[in-house]
Amino acid sequence: MRKALIAANWKMYKTPAEALAFVEAFLPLVASHTRDEIVLFPAHVSLPTVIPAVKNSNVLVGAQNMHWQAEGAYTGEVSAGMLTSLGCTHVLIGHSERRQYFCETDEIVNQKLKTALANDLVPVVCVGEHLDEREANRTEEVLRRQVGRGLINIAPEEAGTVAIAYEPVWAIGTGRTATPELAAEAHLIIRSQVAQMLGREFAEKLRILYGGSVKPENAPALLNQPEIDGALVGGASLDPASFAKIVQYTTF
Ligand code: 13P
Repeated sequence: MRKALIAANWKMYKTPAEALAFVEAFLPLVASHTRDEIVLFPAHVSLPTVIPAVKNSNVLVGAQNMHWQAEGAYTGEVSAGMLTSLGCTHVLIGHSERRQYFCETDEIVNQKLKTALANDLVPVVCVGEHLDEREANRTEEVLRRQVGRGLINIAPEEAGTVAIAYEPVWAIGTGRTATPELAAEAHLIIRSQVAQMLGREFAEKLRILYGGSVKPENAPALLNQPEIDGALVGGASLDPASFAKIVQYTTF
């Protein structure tokens, strides 16, 4: 059994004070929850506030992005070492918004992934097709390419903690969710690509999260699908009660 990872991606929302208010309301709601791994991804500026606030709880904290170099003249960027020095344990890599608005390529994803692994950060690599690609029946080709290039030149013994998030771009922030069956189909493609590259044993242990308009109402159907090993939640993770409901989805 793969332990599910339920993650909140707050994107460019919440000041440090708002992030702290979320944590204070959220922690009591999930205090006894051990079934799943819970991770919050606040904006960089909120990390120094959120990380101490979740100390000794069952909630972990990751960053939404980082640079692949250890340091250097890269104005506006942060390094893996800066994140781990704060107590960050996870990092999102290659979110579709980074790919779309900040020109991140599969090659950059690969460099960031190597850096995250070398720094003992749990990388959550995001992949997913655009609507026109799905409509042109190119979903499999896109997913195999993103996973193939994103994870290239990484050995199974190095890649241990990596997780992949399948986030179809047409489902992000649109209220249009992939059906559990459609998401499972995509997850199988991703798992088969990973098996080709890193072996079947590795692929069987790999956690593949679904993201794209996950809400308290649709979370149970998605998360009970055996191929779906967690959720990466945007909009519905901004409210503590709503995100707690997603975390506490009922199993059937
Ligand atoms: P929404 O849940 O708002 O659709 O966002 C999904 C997402 O991009 C999470 O990374």
